[in-house]
Amino acid sequence: MAGKIPQHFIDELLARVDIVDVIDARVTLKKSGANHMACCPFHNEKSPSFSVSQPKQFYHCFGCGANGSAIGFLMEYENLHFVDAIEMLAESVGMDVPRDESAARKHDDLRPLYALMDEVSKFYQQNLREQPRAIDYLKGRGLDGEIAKRYGIGCTPTTRDALQQRFPEATDALTRCGLLTTGTDGRRTPYPRFRDRVMFPIRDRRGRTIGFGGRVLDDSEPKYLNSPETPIFHKGSEVYGLHEARRAVQDANFVIVVEGYMDVVALAQAGVDNAVATLGTAANRQHSEMLFRVVPNIVFCFDGDRAGRQAAWRALQATLPVLEDGRDAHFLFLPDGEDPDSYVKTHGKAGFDDLLGTRVPIVDQLYAHLSADVDMSSVGGKAQLAEKAKPLLQTIPRGVYKQLALRRLESLLGLSLGSERAGATPKASNQRQRAGGGGQLTPMSRAVLLVLQFPDLVATQPPEAYEFDEGLAGASVLMRLIGYCDADPATSTARLLERFRGSSDEAAVNNLAVRQWWPDGRELDRDTAQEEFANCLSRLADMSRPDPVDKVTAGNRTGLLAVPRRR
Ligand code: GTP
Ligand code: MN
Repeated sequence: MAGKIPQHFIDELLARVDIVDVIDARVTLKKSGANHMACCPFHNEKSPSFSVSQPKQFYHCFGCGANGSAIGFLMEYENLHFVDAIEMLAESVGMDVPRDESAARKHDDLRPLYALMDEVSKFYQQNLREQPRAIDYLKGRGLDGEIAKRYGIGCTPTTRDALQQRFPEATDALTRCGLLTTGTDGRRTPYPRFRDRVMFPIRDRRGRTIGFGGRVLDDSEPKYLNSPETPIFHKGSEVYGLHEARRAVQDANFVIVVEGYMDVVALAQAGVDNAVATLGTAANRQHSEMLFRVVPNIVFCFDGDRAGRQAAWRALQATLPVLEDGRDAHFLFLPDGEDPDSYVKTHGKAGFDDLLGTRVPIVDQLYAHLSADVDMSSVGGKAQLAEKAKPLLQTIPRGVYKQLALRRLESLLGLSLGSERAGATPKASNQRQRAGGGGQLTPMSRAVLLVLQFPDLVATQPPEAYEFDEGLAGASVLMRLIGYCDADPATSTARLLERFRGSSDEAAVNNLAVRQWWPDGRELDRDTAQEEFANCLSRLADMSRPDPVDKVTAGNRTGLLAVPRRR
C-alpha cells in the first residue's frame, strides 16, 4: 500500500507538518532543553520519558521505546493504517494525497461493507441481551458482561429471517460479507450462514468489524464457524483480538498468540489482556510479520500434545524468515490436555504468569525439535542434525539470530562451522547480543547512526570519503542514506526513516535513530557526531582493503559446513 503514495509526496508532507504541533494537539508537550517532553501516551508512566525533537521531526519514548515520525505517531496514536495517517496529516496542512484511480475506487467501494459489518455486530450484541440461553452459556464459561462488551460478543437471532428483516435492503452486501449464503444444495433463497451461535466479531487494527467467528451453544458440529474470505476479510493475515489487546500488548511489550477465540477472552477475563488468536489456521509468516510490526516480542502458546508441538513447529518455521534483529519469539507449552482457557481458569493469572516464565526461546525450540529424534551421541546423528538445520538456518535474515543459531549448531556438533561468515562481523554481533542491543556498534552501524541523526553531516565530507566496500555488512543501508541526503540536503531524521518503512532494515534503522549516547558514553550531540563521522568513514575505508588471509580461507568454504577455521 505504501508504494501507492509517491515518496516525494511523503517528503513534502513531512517538511510541511511540524511533529510538535501534531503531537501537542493530542498530548500536551512541555519544552525542555532542545526537546519537548510529555508522559508517554503509549504506556503508563508517572514521570515523562516521551520526547519530541523538532529538528529531527521525530519522537521517542525512553521508557517503552516507541518512536517514529509524525506519520508513525498518528498510526500508533489514532490506530490508523499508513495511508489513512497520511491522509489525516495531509488534510491538516491542506495538501491533496495523490493516489491512483483504481485504488481510490476500491477504497470507496468497501466502505459500505465495513459499515454494514459494524451494524450487524451491534445487532448480534442486542440479540444477546434477549437470549438467556446464550447469556447462560457465556456465564457458564466464566465470562462476565464487561468482557463480553469489550470483545463485542453477541449471538445470532432465534429466527431465521431476523437478519434480513433487520437489514431489508442489504441482501447483496450481506452476501458479499459472507453473512448470507445460498449454500451448495441448490437452494436459491439466501439464508444466514450463522445460526444458533455465540458470535465473536473479528476486528481489524482500526477496530472495524471485518468478520465473525461463531460457536455453537451445545455439542453440535461444526463447533466453530468462521466468516469466509470476503473483500474485507482475509483469514490468513488477520488475528482475533488484536484491536482489543493493543494497549495491553504495548504495555507488556509482548503479544501471546493462542489458538482459540475462547482462549483469548478467557485470558482477558482472568486479567491477561495481551493475547490474540489465529483464525482457525496455523500461525503463518504474514501473522508473525504483522504482529512484529505491533510489538517486538511474540509468545506462541500451544497445547503440550503432539498436535500442539506440530503447530508450534509450523509457527517457528514461519517466524524464522522475519526474525530481524530487535525482534524475539518464544514458545510456551501447556500441560497435556489443557488449553489457555482451562489453564487460566484453574491456575489464575498468577499461574499463567508463572507458566510464561517457562517459555522457550525460538532458537532453543528450533534445536529441541530438530534433535528430538536423532542420536546426538553419534557422528551420523550429528550429521543428520546439520542436514536438517541447514535449510532452516538459511531462512533467517542476516544478523544476531543467524549468528546465534549457527553458533548453537556448532556447539551441538562440537565443530567450528565458520559461523562468523554468515552474518555481520563476528565481534560486533557478539557484543550486540550480550549488551541486548545497547552496547558496541560496528563502524558501519556507527556511520548509519550518525547520518540518520545528523543528515547534514553527509555534505561535510569530500566524495572520496565515501569509498568503502559495498560488500560490508550494512553498506547498502549507508549508501541509501547518503543518496537521500545528497538528493535532499534539508532532509530530516523522520524523512529518512520513512523511506525504510516496511523494509527489512526498518527495525535496525529505528533502533539506531533513537540512541542518545555514543558507545563510549558521551552524549550524542552535534559536536560529537561531527568528530566521529570522519573517524567512522576512515575505519570503513580500512576495512575495505582486502585481507590476504581472508582471501585464502574464503576459498575453503564449502557452504555451511566449512573446514574448521583458524582460531
Ligand atoms: P472451546 O471448545 O469453545 O473451548 O474452543 P477451543 O478454542 O478450545 O477449541 P479448539 O481448541 O477445538 O479450536 C481452536 C480454534 O480452532 C477455534 O477457536 C476455531 O478458530 C478453530 N476451530 C475449532 N473447531 C472448529 C471447527 O469445527 N470449524 C472451524 N472452521 N474452526 C474450528
Ligand atoms: Mn477450549
